[in-house]
Parts: sequence; C-alpha cells; structure tokens
Amino acid sequence: MSMLRQLSLFVRKRIPNRARFWLRLAHHAVHRGQASQPLTREMVADCRVCASRRELLKELPQNGKVVEVGTHRGDFAEQILEICNPAELHLVDLDFSFLKPSVRNDARVKLLPGYSHEALSALPDAQFDWIYIDADHTYASTKRDAEAAAAKVKPGGYLVFNDFAHVDPYLGAYGVHRAVIDFARENGWAFAWFAFEPNALYDVALKRR
Ligand SMILES: C[S@@+](CC[C@H](N)C(=O)[O-])C[C@H]1O[C@@H](n2cnc3c(N)ncnc32)[C@H](O)[C@@H]1O
Repeated sequence: MSMLRQLSLFVRKRIPNRARFWLRLAHHAVHRGQASQPLTREMVADCRVCASRRELLKELPQNGKVVEVGTHRGDFAEQILEICNPAELHLVDLDFSFLKPSVRNDARVKLLPGYSHEALSALPDAQFDWIYIDADHTYASTKRDAEAAAAKVKPGGYLVFNDFAHVDPYLGAYGVHRAVIDFARENGWAFAWFAFEPNALYDVALKRR
C-alpha cells in the first residue's frame, strides 16, 4: 500500500464531523452526480425485501464460509458471528487498529490485511457462501471489489453490498449504486435481497447463478 494512501485513510478516519461536512459540501459543488443504468425486469424478478441488514443475515447461508470486505471496528462482523455462526469469517481491511478484541480473538475469524481487491484476488475460487463488500465506496473501488469477489463465491452464493446509494443524509457521496448495477448487468447477477435502512443506505444481495 502506498504511504500516501495509508496517510489519507488515517486522516479521513479521524476528521471531526464539522470539518467532514464542509469538505463534503465542497466535493458536491465540484462533482456532478450521475444516475445508474436502469434495472431490467429479469434482474429483480426473484428479489425479496427485508427490514434491515441484521434481518438479511438470517436469510443468508448459515454455518458457511464468509468474507467481510471492510470491517473497521467489527460491528457488523460481530453480528455475522452471532447470527450466521460461520465456519470461517475472513475479514479484509487496510487498518485493523480499531477492531474489537471480541472479534479479533474469535477462533472463526481470520484477518487479511491489505487492499480489498488484492486480498480478494488471493482467495481460492468458488469457496465462499457469501461475501460482504463495505470498503472504499467510490465507483471504481466498489466495481473492482465486486469483480475480484465474483469468482470467489460458490455457484448459488451471494455478493452483498452495503450503502447501495448515491449520497447519504450527511452529504457522503457513494459510487456503490452505479457500481453494483453496472456489475450486475455486465455479469448477469440477479438481485436476491434488498434490505431497508432508515438513512436510505440500503444493503443489496446479488445471487450468483
Ligand atoms: C464503512 S467501514 C466498514 C464497516 C463495517 N463493514 C461494519 O458495517 O461494521 C469501511 C472500512 O473499509 C476499510 N477500507 C477502505 N478502503 C479500503 C480498501 N481499499 N481496502 C481495504 N479496506 C479498505 C476502512 O479501513 C474501513 O475500516
């Protein structure tokens, strides 16, 4: 990882909320939003809706092999461990310094430090029941993570994306919405689950055919 990238991540994680607001406002003044491509009828024919990403965990394969890409403190990893009881939970992050000891020390957890797309590429093909993508939320990184993760999921398994949105109520801008739809259209993955979130930062699960 380049020193510059590491430094930028370190600084971004520690910016106070007020400064973050003004930086994001400046970002919106410079960059224009871009809509996603439309969905086809076939892409959502079997899609179901659930109340939250916690509820979604109850619908995803249990006792399997799981990857979470982007873990931070381990809040969602903790829920995955509790609800899905995975045989293995691989956690990918550039920086594990915030990770809770309860997650770090769980025998089912394996830590994979490094860039998300590189860590994903090093995993064996068709081994994982589902992979959760929640690292860098730019269009390019989300698409690259989706493409690196796709071959790692078993046939019938899932790629799940957090923050399926263009923008959040605190002015954060995401490329996740466009990246997920482009990935699904280009690779023939169908939408299987849509999980509600009060800030409209939805989770979506795509199913590998
Ligand atoms: C939104 S947080 C993850 C939150 C976690 N999934 C949860 O719901 O509790 C995003 C994490 O992704 C990591 N990250 C950002 N860009 C990354 C990259 N290119 N490769 C690996 N990790 C990255 C950050 O260090 C951060 O810890």
